[in-house]
Amino acid sequence: MLRMTNSTVGIIGAGAMGSGIAQVAAQAGWNVILIDQSLDSLEKSQAQLTKVCNRLVEKNRLTSQESSALQQRILRFTAFDHLAPCTLIIEAIVENKEVKQRVFAQIEEIVSNECILATNTSSLSVTGLASSLKHPERFLGLHFFNPAPLMQLVEVIAAMQTNPEHIDRCNAWMNAWKKVPVRAKDTPGFIVNRLARPFYGEALRIVEEELASPAQVDDAMKSVGFRMGPFELMDLIGNDVNYAVTVSVFEAFYFDPRYRPSLIQKKHVEAGWLGRKSGRGYYRYDGQPGESITEATGELSWIHQRIVALLINEAADALSMRIASAQDLELAMTRGVNYPKGLLTWANDWGIASVLDQLQALQNRYGEDRYRPAPILRDMAEKNLLFDLGTS
Ligand code: NAI
Repeated sequence: MLRMTNSTVGIIGAGAMGSGIAQVAAQAGWNVILIDQSLDSLEKSQAQLTKVCNRLVEKNRLTSQESSALQQRILRFTAFDHLAPCTLIIEAIVENKEVKQRVFAQIEEIVSNECILATNTSSLSVTGLASSLKHPERFLGLHFFNPAPLMQLVEVIAAMQTNPEHIDRCNAWMNAWKKVPVRAKDTPGFIVNRLARPFYGEALRIVEEELASPAQVDDAMKSVGFRMGPFELMDLIGNDVNYAVTVSVFEAFYFDPRYRPSLIQKKHVEAGWLGRKSGRGYYRYDGQPGESITEATGELSWIHQRIVALLINEAADALSMRIASAQDLELAMTRGVNYPKGLLTWANDWGIASVLDQLQALQNRYGEDRYRPAPILRDMAEKNLLFDLGTS
């Protein structure tokens, strides 16, 4: 299962993401230099990896020799000067532009000119980060998902300055790491964090209007194949984290109403009802009875139709803006967030004209720009076309 290569990756930040990425790289046979300013983080990261490896050995997924080889392949330091032999650097430190830029400036002084520098940022502009480098052409985004060893998707993001050859190399490396790389334009939320916004936003809107309860919305989405409903998922992710991503995407898109955050989510954050981690979110996890909530009556398929139509609209818009290829948009949602099928496939199956009808009905009802259909959907419905999902 493990392969040996002489390649060395430097990973900066030994938190949740950096530690997971280090495991992925070491499992693929790469040598890893894991750097963190905090010795405590490095020690915790090492202890966590030992626990994970022991579990893999128990489950016969690794032999004990492989387990110790994997662990020995990761060296941990607090000082950056150990990064000199690296061919690739992946930064996974605090989500702060100035701190990241300072760290990359330090790294550029140590690594060779051939070394590729990547950030795991979720919300900062890759182009903006690249701009402070001496060699911005070797900078790009490698956006892993949490937990990195389990989630297959990696979004590979070119800054405006990036040399395309480096994108190809990273794509090949991610394949060798047994990941599913997709190429995304450097736009807010990249693919997944942009396309998934209506899953939460429209669910919140339905509940905000008291058209249905969180449990009804969750049931509706699970009835069409989603593993978790939006409210269960927000409670798992944490309302604070989910709200922060929504605010960041909303601001980055110059306050486009499609991404407008929800007041009820804000109130949940203010109340400290963050979800599972705080014992209470949209559901209660502290054994106390929940509040009585307005429930919808009658036929409830409108719930998933409304949310899925908005998800498809987002995917169609991203495709027409060339954020990614149709195939990569599909892979991103099925491998990154485990959607039951890709959103463009869903549009083809449902019928583009029906999706358009849904969106137009919502736009007529609310008169809001939030529901404007992507022009590509109108064009395709008029010409009776389907999304072409055959090529990347
Ligand atoms: P974390 O808070 O778990 O870990 C960050 C680590 O970086 C800490 O151990 C900290 O000591 C270290 N650090 C901070 N500043 C440093 C510096 N100047 N030099 C060296 N080490 C430093 O954070 P997490 O969740 O691992 O996130 C890291 C990055 O990955 C962020 O940019 C985040 O936006 C991104 N990301 C996070 C995801 C998640 O679900 N947590 C998913 C995808 C991306």
